[in-house]
Amino acid sequence: MHIPDIIIAIDGYSSTGKSSFAKIVANEFSFLYLDSGALYRGVTLHAIEKGFIDDGCRIDVDGLEESLKGLDLHFGPEGTYIGERCIEDEIRSLKIAEKVSPIATVPQVREYVDRKLREFGKAKRVVMDGRDIGTTVFPDAELKIFMTADPVIRAQRRAAEMNAKGMEADLESVLRNLQERDYIDSHRSTSPLSKAEDAIVLDNSHMTMEDQMIWLKKIIEERFCK
Ligand code: CDP
Repeated sequence: MHIPDIIIAIDGYSSTGKSSFAKIVANEFSFLYLDSGALYRGVTLHAIEKGFIDDGCRIDVDGLEESLKGLDLHFGPEGTYIGERCIEDEIRSLKIAEKVSPIATVPQVREYVDRKLREFGKAKRVVMDGRDIGTTVFPDAELKIFMTADPVIRAQRRAAEMNAKGMEADLESVLRNLQERDYIDSHRSTSPLSKAEDAIVLDNSHMTMEDQMIWLKKIIEERFCK
């Protein structure tokens, strides 16, 4: 299927399978895939290691803002990096998941991440997933998808994914974490998680990845291939 040079923005709740879907879409259409959540997770790892967030999730905003000037967070061959150090596995832990949403409420952090994301978007043929891609980062994206699914199903999928990687994850903690993140993400004042008016909702509670691709191809065909 030929698809024109567009930006595909995939937003939605935690653990709805946005990144798995986005990766497959990117592969299918030879698009660049960008995981905006990985950048928020990377900033969170940095903030923990440098002591800008404590166990009660109190954040030293001024210190963190200043340190972002020297933070070399980027994508590389194995995923997400700080300088030469690959942080891809570390940022997927529950320890990071517990602090990432408070960190992502900080406007200066959002500016830092948005700047990086918009740079990549210049290339077009990009699929990006996150919480505010279709509303704030790329409000003019040609195709916007908003993903949702039953919270218990989401927690089961995420716990299984973490267990398969040998990470500790019990269903209850994962469910609690994703509900807390959904709440913080939807209620923050800067770029909260919300469906863009022109986004199409995809509830994948009872869909396989194959079902999702069939669904997407039909939309693309109707919109862009006539
Ligand atoms: O994979 P999962 O859906 O669990 O989360 P993620 O995409 O890795 O994002 C982690 C966290 O980063 C989210 O819970 C948000 O707090 C934050 N985030 C955001 O605020 N804006 C984005 N565009 C992407 C992520």
